Amino acid sequence: MLSLKPLPPNHNPSLLHSLTPFTPPFPRTQTLKPSKHASPPSAIQSALQWNRKPELAGETPRVVVITSGKGGVGKTTTTANIGISLARLGFSVVAVDCDVGLRNLDLLLGLENRVNYTLVEVLNGDCRLDQALVRDKRWSNFELLCISKPRSKLPLGFGGKALVWLVDSLKQRPEGSPQFILIDCPAGIDAGFITAITPANEAVLVTTPDITSLRDADRVTGLLECDGIRDIKMIVNRVRTDMIKGEDMMSVLDVQEMLGLALLGAIPEDSEVIRSTNRGYPLVLNKPPTMAGLAFEQAAWRLVEQDSMQAVLVEEEPKRRGLFSFFGG
Ligand SMILES: Nc1ncnc2c1ncn2[C@@H]1O[C@H](COP(=O)(O)OP(=O)(O)OP(=O)(O)O)[C@@H](O)[C@H]1O
Ligand SMILES: [Mg+2]
Repeated sequence: MLSLKPLPPNHNPSLLHSLTPFTPPFPRTQTLKPSKHASPPSAIQSALQWNRKPELAGETPRVVVITSGKGGVGKTTTTANIGISLARLGFSVVAVDCDVGLRNLDLLLGLENRVNYTLVEVLNGDCRLDQALVRDKRWSNFELLCISKPRSKLPLGFGGKALVWLVDSLKQRPEGSPQFILIDCPAGIDAGFITAITPANEAVLVTTPDITSLRDADRVTGLLECDGIRDIKMIVNRVRTDMIKGEDMMSVLDVQEMLGLALLGAIPEDSEVIRSTNRGYPLVLNKPPTMAGLAFEQAAWRLVEQDSMQAVLVEEEPKRRGLFSFFGG
């Protein structure tokens, strides 16, 4: 059962964790603090090793569903930012907005005016698949596909088979199969959820560190496993170190212990996320980079390389409270 566990007396509620696969019991002593003698870290230099491209682990296309159970926890934000990060790293990406009737991935990417056709119209024979794929303005190796028009209902007979057909068709495109197909799943666990997870062989579970989101995430983990999706990683979103320090919010470590999933990333609460959502400009493209943007980039890197990246998220020294810095291991 999920519960908000009391913290041990000497527990340092830091956000930081080594992003290694979950191996219970998780060693609390792995908490890293910047050394007093070390030179101050430069966020970008330490976050990503820009001088090399990560090597793709696993077969392609990697079909990854981004899901959560609870609504509004950051699935679409995660899809947009991880998708664009992957494209910037040179991988070909197709992001599928599976939120029927309430799509908004196109808005986050600033592509809403370019969506002329959707998958429903492709399946109806009204257009070709390539006409429904919308190329990003900035990264031509990133394409968006919406399932249906805004406010429309899931057509009768539309289900997982349609998405399996889609993945097969994308694999057979003359220009070659995309390396990543990211599926932005609708909230809940009803028909839309079942449809979205059907073609996936991996999942990214997005949760916030609160008990309602965690309970839904736990339930969704069970459903994913039932469906045969065993490769499930989690993003803990909207993390606030000030609240963790005040013991008003669960730490990422507590979330990880509760769900027992490998940690793909811990994304801080950041008002820049909302600003970038409203501008239709993915956060990871911001200059100078923001902490949440860097955390998404780090998560994308880790998704590519599976478990090979030794990345950690470290708290700043107290006088720079509220900011985080990232260290590459
Ligand atoms: N790290 C963050 N910091 C601040 N705001 C955030 C963060 N992540 C997401 N948000 C905000 O939370 C809101 C919901 O995010 P988003 O649309 O990505 O969630 P969702 O899980 O896709 O929702 P739905 O279930 O409705 O599809 C948005 O306004 C977004 O800007
Ligand atoms: Mg969404």
